[in-house]
Amino acid sequence: MSTPAPVKTTEPIERLVVFRHPLISHKLAALRDARTGHRPFRALMSQIAGLMVYEVTRSFETTPVTVQTPMGPAPCARIERPVTVVPVLRAGLGMTDGVLELMPEARVGHLGLVRDERTLLPTTYLKKLPKDLDAGPVILIDPMLATGGSAVEAARILREAGAVDLRMICLVAAPEGVRRLTEADPGLTIYTAALDERTNEKGYILPGLGDAGDRLYGTG
Ligand code: PRP
Ligand code: URA
Repeated sequence: MSTPAPVKTTEPIERLVVFRHPLISHKLAALRDARTGHRPFRALMSQIAGLMVYEVTRSFETTPVTVQTPMGPAPCARIERPVTVVPVLRAGLGMTDGVLELMPEARVGHLGLVRDERTLLPTTYLKKLPKDLDAGPVILIDPMLATGGSAVEAARILREAGAVDLRMICLVAAPEGVRRLTEADPGLTIYTAALDERTNEKGYILPGLGDAGDRLYGTG
Protein backbone atom coordinates (compact mmCIF):
# COMPACT_ATOMS: atom_id res chain seq x y z
CA MET A 1 0.00 0.00 0.00
CA SER A 2 1.42 3.42 -0.88
CA THR A 3 2.07 5.97 1.87
CA PRO A 4 -0.58 8.72 1.97
CA ALA A 5 0.59 12.19 1.01
CA PRO A 6 1.28 14.60 3.87
CA VAL A 7 -1.44 17.13 4.56
CA LYS A 8 -0.40 20.74 4.29
CA THR A 9 -2.08 23.01 6.80
CA THR A 10 -4.50 25.62 5.54
CA GLU A 11 -3.39 28.05 8.26
CA PRO A 12 -1.87 31.20 6.78
CA ILE A 13 1.77 31.57 7.78
CA GLU A 14 2.59 35.02 9.11
CA ARG A 15 6.16 36.27 9.29
CA LEU A 16 5.83 37.72 12.81
CA VAL A 17 3.61 36.22 15.48
CA VAL A 18 3.39 38.10 18.80
CA PHE A 19 1.71 36.01 21.50
CA ARG A 20 -1.25 37.40 23.38
CA HIS A 21 -2.13 34.79 25.96
CA PRO A 22 -2.88 35.45 29.65
CA LEU A 23 -0.67 32.61 30.89
CA ILE A 24 2.29 33.66 28.76
CA SER A 25 1.84 37.33 29.79
CA HIS A 26 1.66 36.31 33.46
CA LYS A 27 4.83 34.22 33.32
CA LEU A 28 6.66 36.82 31.24
CA ALA A 29 5.88 39.45 33.91
CA ALA A 30 7.61 37.26 36.50
CA LEU A 31 10.53 36.57 34.15
CA ARG A 32 11.11 40.27 33.50
CA ASP A 33 10.99 41.16 37.20
CA ALA A 34 14.51 42.12 38.36
CA ARG A 35 13.83 40.41 41.72
CA THR A 36 13.41 36.97 40.07
CA GLY A 37 16.45 34.81 40.84
CA HIS A 38 18.08 32.35 38.46
CA ARG A 39 16.22 29.29 39.72
CA PRO A 40 12.66 30.56 39.05
CA PHE A 41 13.97 32.40 35.97
CA ARG A 42 15.10 29.07 34.50
CA ALA A 43 11.76 27.40 35.24
CA LEU A 44 9.74 30.29 33.79
CA MET A 45 11.78 30.44 30.60
CA SER A 46 11.26 26.75 30.00
CA GLN A 47 7.53 26.92 30.76
CA ILE A 48 6.91 29.86 28.41
CA ALA A 49 8.81 28.08 25.63
CA GLY A 50 6.61 25.01 26.11
CA LEU A 51 3.46 27.10 25.89
CA MET A 52 4.70 28.68 22.66
CA VAL A 53 5.26 25.32 20.95
CA TYR A 54 1.54 24.82 20.37
CA GLU A 55 1.39 27.86 18.08
CA VAL A 56 4.80 27.38 16.47
CA THR A 57 3.83 23.88 15.29
CA ARG A 58 0.34 24.83 14.10
CA SER A 59 1.34 24.84 10.42
CA PHE A 60 3.39 21.60 10.54
CA GLU A 61 2.58 19.03 7.86
CA THR A 62 0.82 15.87 9.07
CA THR A 63 0.47 12.48 7.41
CA PRO A 64 -2.84 10.59 7.62
CA VAL A 65 -2.48 7.25 9.41
CA THR A 66 -4.90 4.61 10.61
CA VAL A 67 -4.51 3.55 14.23
CA GLN A 68 -6.16 0.49 15.73
CA THR A 69 -7.91 1.51 18.93
CA PRO A 70 -9.36 -1.22 21.21
CA MET A 71 -12.61 -0.58 19.32
CA GLY A 72 -11.36 -0.60 15.74
CA PRO A 73 -9.55 1.56 13.16
CA ALA A 74 -9.40 5.33 13.72
CA PRO A 75 -8.29 7.92 11.16
CA CYS A 76 -5.42 9.85 12.76
CA ALA A 77 -2.55 12.13 11.78
CA ARG A 78 1.14 12.17 12.64
CA ILE A 79 4.03 14.55 12.20
CA GLU A 80 6.34 12.28 10.22
CA ARG A 81 9.08 14.67 9.13
CA PRO A 82 11.93 15.07 11.61
CA VAL A 83 11.83 18.29 13.60
CA THR A 84 15.13 19.92 14.54
CA VAL A 85 15.43 22.48 17.32
CA VAL A 86 18.55 24.63 17.42
CA PRO A 87 19.22 26.60 20.60
CA VAL A 88 21.71 29.46 20.42
CA LEU A 89 24.09 29.14 23.39
CA ARG A 90 23.96 30.12 26.08
CA ALA A 91 20.51 31.60 26.61
CA GLY A 92 18.67 29.43 24.05
CA LEU A 93 19.40 26.38 26.21
CA GLY A 94 17.03 27.80 28.82
CA MET A 95 14.07 27.35 26.46
CA THR A 96 15.06 24.00 24.98
CA ASP A 97 13.78 21.62 27.68
CA GLY A 98 10.38 23.30 27.55
CA VAL A 99 10.23 22.73 23.79
CA LEU A 100 11.47 19.12 24.06
CA GLU A 101 8.88 18.33 26.69
CA LEU A 102 6.23 18.80 23.97
CA MET A 103 8.32 17.35 21.13
CA PRO A 104 10.55 14.68 22.72
CA GLU A 105 11.39 13.15 19.33
CA ALA A 106 12.94 16.39 18.03
CA ARG A 107 16.61 16.43 17.16
CA VAL A 108 18.77 19.08 18.80
CA GLY A 109 21.45 21.02 16.93
CA HIS A 110 23.63 23.55 18.76
CA LEU A 111 24.94 26.94 17.74
CA GLY A 112 27.31 28.85 19.99
CA LEU A 113 27.27 32.58 19.25
CA VAL A 114 28.49 35.43 21.39
CA ARG A 115 28.08 39.17 20.84
CA ASP A 116 31.07 41.43 21.18
CA GLU A 117 29.99 43.94 23.84
CA ARG A 118 31.56 46.87 21.97
CA THR A 119 30.86 46.18 18.29
CA LEU A 120 27.73 44.04 18.98
CA LEU A 121 28.92 41.71 16.20
CA PRO A 122 28.38 37.98 16.81
CA THR A 123 31.18 35.40 16.71
CA THR A 124 30.39 31.72 16.16
CA TYR A 125 32.26 29.35 18.51
CA LEU A 126 30.21 26.16 18.08
CA LYS A 127 28.23 24.58 15.25
CA LYS A 128 26.85 21.06 15.65
CA LEU A 129 23.92 20.31 13.35
CA PRO A 130 22.22 17.25 11.82
CA LYS A 131 23.30 16.71 8.19
CA ASP A 132 19.82 16.62 6.63
CA LEU A 133 18.32 19.86 7.93
CA ASP A 134 16.11 19.97 4.84
CA ALA A 135 14.26 16.83 6.01
CA GLY A 136 11.80 18.78 8.16
CA PRO A 137 11.05 21.98 10.09
CA VAL A 138 13.91 23.71 11.90
CA ILE A 139 13.21 25.85 14.99
CA LEU A 140 15.86 28.34 16.01
CA ILE A 141 15.67 29.13 19.74
CA ASP A 142 17.03 32.28 21.36
CA PRO A 143 15.11 34.26 24.01
CA MET A 144 16.47 37.65 22.92
CA LEU A 145 16.19 39.21 19.45
CA ALA A 146 17.84 42.57 20.07
CA THR A 147 19.83 44.23 17.25
CA GLY A 148 19.29 41.04 15.25
CA GLY A 149 22.97 40.44 14.54
CA SER A 150 23.05 37.02 16.24
CA ALA A 151 19.78 35.81 14.73
CA VAL A 152 20.75 36.91 11.21
CA GLU A 153 24.01 34.99 11.53
CA ALA A 154 22.27 31.94 13.04
CA ALA A 155 19.67 31.91 10.24
CA ARG A 156 22.41 32.27 7.62
CA ILE A 157 24.28 29.27 9.07
CA LEU A 158 21.11 27.18 9.18
CA ARG A 159 20.13 28.05 5.59
CA GLU A 160 23.66 27.24 4.44
CA ALA A 161 23.34 23.91 6.27
CA GLY A 162 20.14 23.15 4.30
CA ALA A 163 17.24 24.46 6.43
CA VAL A 164 14.17 25.06 4.24
CA ASP A 165 11.29 25.43 6.72
CA LEU A 166 12.87 27.78 9.27
CA ARG A 167 11.16 29.37 12.29
CA MET A 168 12.52 31.26 15.28
CA ILE A 169 11.14 31.32 18.84
CA CYS A 170 12.16 34.16 21.13
CA LEU A 171 10.77 35.64 24.31
CA VAL A 172 11.47 39.33 23.80
CA ALA A 173 12.11 41.00 20.45
CA ALA A 174 13.03 44.58 19.56
CA PRO A 175 11.56 46.13 16.39
CA GLU A 176 15.03 46.73 14.90
CA GLY A 177 15.95 43.05 15.33
CA VAL A 178 12.70 41.91 13.75
CA ARG A 179 13.25 44.30 10.82
CA ARG A 180 16.82 43.20 10.30
CA LEU A 181 16.01 39.50 10.45
CA THR A 182 12.96 39.65 8.18
CA GLU A 183 14.96 41.67 5.64
CA ALA A 184 17.86 39.22 5.75
CA ASP A 185 15.62 36.12 5.67
CA PRO A 186 12.12 36.92 4.35
CA GLY A 187 11.10 33.24 4.45
CA LEU A 188 11.58 32.83 8.18
CA THR A 189 8.72 33.14 10.69
CA ILE A 190 9.43 34.79 14.07
CA TYR A 191 7.36 33.84 17.13
CA THR A 192 7.84 36.10 20.12
CA ALA A 193 6.18 36.37 23.53
CA ALA A 194 6.66 40.17 23.46
CA LEU A 195 7.62 42.95 21.06
CA ASP A 196 9.35 45.67 23.09
CA GLU A 197 10.15 49.33 22.38
CA ARG A 198 13.76 49.43 21.19
CA THR A 199 17.38 48.62 21.99
CA ASN A 200 19.66 50.99 23.89
CA GLU A 201 23.16 52.13 22.85
CA LYS A 202 24.62 48.93 24.36
CA GLY A 203 22.28 46.71 22.34
CA TYR A 204 20.05 45.78 25.29
CA ILE A 205 16.30 45.55 24.77
CA LEU A 206 14.17 48.17 26.57
CA PRO A 207 12.40 47.34 28.78
CA GLY A 208 13.45 43.72 28.01
CA LEU A 209 14.60 41.54 30.88
CA GLY A 210 18.32 42.30 31.11
CA ASP A 211 21.04 39.83 30.13
CA ALA A 212 19.20 36.56 29.54
CA GLY A 213 22.29 34.31 29.75
CA ASP A 214 23.49 35.91 32.99
CA ARG A 215 20.06 35.79 34.62
CA LEU A 216 19.58 32.17 33.54
CA TYR A 217 22.87 30.94 34.91
CA GLY A 218 23.44 33.42 37.76
CA THR A 219 26.60 34.83 36.21
CA GLY A 220 25.61 38.51 36.26
C1 PRP B 1 22.36 37.26 23.70
C2 PRP B 1 21.12 36.56 23.23
C3 PRP B 1 21.27 36.57 21.74
C4 PRP B 1 21.96 37.89 21.49
C5 PRP B 1 20.94 38.89 20.99
O1 PRP B 1 23.44 36.40 23.71
O2 PRP B 1 20.95 35.28 23.77
O3 PRP B 1 22.03 35.50 21.23
O4 PRP B 1 22.50 38.33 22.74
O5 PRP B 1 21.52 40.10 20.67
P1 PRP B 1 21.55 40.67 19.17
O6 PRP B 1 20.19 40.49 18.62
O7 PRP B 1 21.91 42.12 19.35
O8 PRP B 1 22.59 39.91 18.41
P2 PRP B 1 24.90 36.85 24.19
O9 PRP B 1 25.73 37.24 23.01
O10 PRP B 1 24.78 37.82 25.31
O11 PRP B 1 25.54 35.47 24.69
P3 PRP B 1 25.21 34.58 25.98
O12 PRP B 1 23.82 34.00 25.79
O13 PRP B 1 26.25 33.54 25.95
O14 PRP B 1 25.28 35.46 27.20
N1 URA C 1 20.98 39.97 24.95
C1 URA C 1 20.39 39.88 26.17
O1 URA C 1 20.60 38.90 26.90
N2 URA C 1 19.55 40.86 26.52
C2 URA C 1 19.28 41.93 25.75
O2 URA C 1 18.49 42.80 26.15
C3 URA C 1 19.93 42.00 24.50
C4 URA C 1 20.76 41.00 24.12
